[in-house]
Amino acid sequence: MILDGKKIVVTGVIDRHSIAYAIAERAQEQGAEVVLTSFGRVRRMTERAAKRLPAEVEVLELDVNSDDDLASLTDSLRERWGRVDGAVHAIANAPADALGGNFLGAPRESAKTAFETSAYSLKALAEALEPLFGGSGNGVPSGGSIVGLDFDASVAWPSYDWMGVSKAALESVARYLARDLGPGGVRVNLISAGPVKTAAAGGIPGFGALAASWKDGAPLGWDVTDPAPVADAAIFLLSDLSRAVSGEILHADGGFHAIGAAVPAGEEEPASTEDEPAAPVAWDPTQP
Ligand SMILES: NC(=O)c1ccc[n+]([C@@H]2O[C@H](COP(=O)([O-])OP(=O)(O)OC[C@H]3O[C@@H](n4cnc5c(N)ncnc54)[C@H](O)[C@@H]3O)[C@@H](O)[C@H]2O)c1
Repeated sequence: MILDGKKIVVTGVIDRHSIAYAIAERAQEQGAEVVLTSFGRVRRMTERAAKRLPAEVEVLELDVNSDDDLASLTDSLRERWGRVDGAVHAIANAPADALGGNFLGAPRESAKTAFETSAYSLKALAEALEPLFGGSGNGVPSGGSIVGLDFDASVAWPSYDWMGVSKAALESVARYLARDLGPGGVRVNLISAGPVKTAAAGGIPGFGALAASWKDGAPLGWDVTDPAPVADAAIFLLSDLSRAVSGEILHADGGFHAIGAAVPAGEEEPASTEDEPAAPVAWDPTQP
């Protein structure tokens, strides 16, 4: 099992549809010891989902925007494990008026909230865990692995608005963390996931249409109800198999990002019989 003996903190499980739930499940199946985090009123939902995981897990309090919670997380993990080998950042949130197509009208405060919770928080989590990334022994040189969840921020999407801007910031934060934590053996990578039906995705107007376009656009196809392919990519990045990978954005999206335009099945243009291109003429080097 590729995560044997690893101690991994997984944020962002709200229910069994959460991408983080699939990652926690796979991590346990691969031999990791897992702790979840949750906060406030959703904590009970997280605890309910946690009971369905293959092995028992503790749920620690973490509002990623709370310095007190971040400090308590460091203390609890130090007490419990003495070290951490991996962390999953699966946290994003934007106020409703920062999503939905009114990009120009979104209030400054809403954009700031989206950035703080969805991008700055990766730095906040990394800072809290940095003292605990100590190497897992057994001759394994790795200090640890931080994995975050991204939605391709290299282009603008319908409705995604300030969350898209926050994801662009997240991509940059991950690169700076890779720079600063690399010398301590800590890798920082993101997974650019295809659309998955989760609670967070449900809050994005137009998510259904975007998700539908993925089915046609992804050369490998895409199932929006199945977070397992994203989870498997995360397991690779949490494992020592990715020991030389940092500052990377790994696309687990069925190949969608590589394709310029989707042609829905059955709608390919028939090859034209008119205007046949002229037959290629052999090149004659004696002619100017
Ligand atoms: N679902 C998708 O289509 C998709 C695609 C690409 C990337 N992602 C990313 O995956 C990650 C996980 O989202 P998901 O789709 O599984 O949805 P989800 O709703 O299951 O998870 C989002 C989590 O963020 C947590 N959260 C929000 N504010 C927080 C805070 N202040 N402190 C701590 N936790 C907080 C919520 O409690 C929740 O558990 C997010 O970063 C999301 O942007 C999702």
